[in-house]
Amino acid sequence: MSNVTPRDIDWDRLAAAALEVRGKAYAPYSHFEVGAALLTENDEIVVGCNVENRSYGLTVCAERTAVGSAVAAGYRNFKALAVATSASPPAPPCGMCRETLQEFAPNLPILLTNPQGERRTFVLTDLFPEPFAGP
Ligand code: THU
Repeated sequence: MSNVTPRDIDWDRLAAAALEVRGKAYAPYSHFEVGAALLTENDEIVVGCNVENRSYGLTVCAERTAVGSAVAAGYRNFKALAVATSASPPAPPCGMCRETLQEFAPNLPILLTNPQGERRTFVLTDLFPEPFAGP
């Protein structure tokens, strides 16, 4: 675990939630299933999975599904994110998701994992150092 990643977070619980919701992904076109688990400021976990569409460009990533669910549930402050894919090494969020996450949590600690148990950690500012700052 990286030294920039907070130790007071239950990463095992968050990773397990991301891996579990990955099983609900709707990905009949890419067959690349993604699960995301956001830890809210009061230690609730809100999950999301990718939802593809036969019009491929309408696909929504797991991370943005999780953000939408969290905001709809009244959460806007997040302590951490776990993302689960089948990739090795574990895959980071796409650019669109980085921008979406940055809107709410610029310093978000992120754990990437896969079913084999590999882990990588980042902080969003490192993955996405120069966000669009608004007009
Ligand atoms: N995907 C995510 O869910 N999150 C990302 O950050 C990158 C890509 C999904 C979209 C699509 O359903 C599949 O992975 C392949 O691109």
